[in-house]
Amino acid sequence: MRKKSTRVSRAVRKAVGTYQEDQDMLIQALLDLQSAFGWLSEEVLTELSEQLDVPLARIYQIASYYKAFSLHPKGRHIVKVCMGTACQVRGSPQLLNVTQSMLDMKPGETSPDMQFSLETVNCLGCCAMGPVVAVDGVYHSKPSTSDLREAFEAGRRGKR
Ligand code: FES
Repeated sequence: MRKKSTRVSRAVRKAVGTYQEDQDMLIQALLDLQSAFGWLSEEVLTELSEQLDVPLARIYQIASYYKAFSLHPKGRHIVKVCMGTACQVRGSPQLLNVTQSMLDMKPGETSPDMQFSLETVNCLGCCAMGPVVAVDGVYHSKPSTSDLREAFEAGRRGKR
């Protein structure tokens, strides 16, 4: 039998309760839980399934469909390299190569020390600044290798 965590139970109850009247409550609850835990563990999804009386398979289907949800733990710092068209024509593939080699990981991976997760995105909404890398939500326009090194080091030191 699954050992229940009080923290998970409470967080799920809160997310479920907030959106009781809303038709899209499952997605909203998942968004809240993603935000609370940084990812959606099996424990969280099972608890949500039990509290909502929705089949776990249905919840997994939704959680794995949307890119906003992660079924794996994320690093402390999220690095997003924009691969949208405007950034691609301005050199984002090279920027991604440099970023991958500096962090020694590929998109979708998290570093073994759980410090960084690397993602690619389709647009960060600031196409004129491209190519763009976002580190913990701070956008870096046309960053040089030393700009990236500084941004990653700032993340490691807990500063931005
Ligand atoms: S395409 Fe990169 S910010 Fe829009």
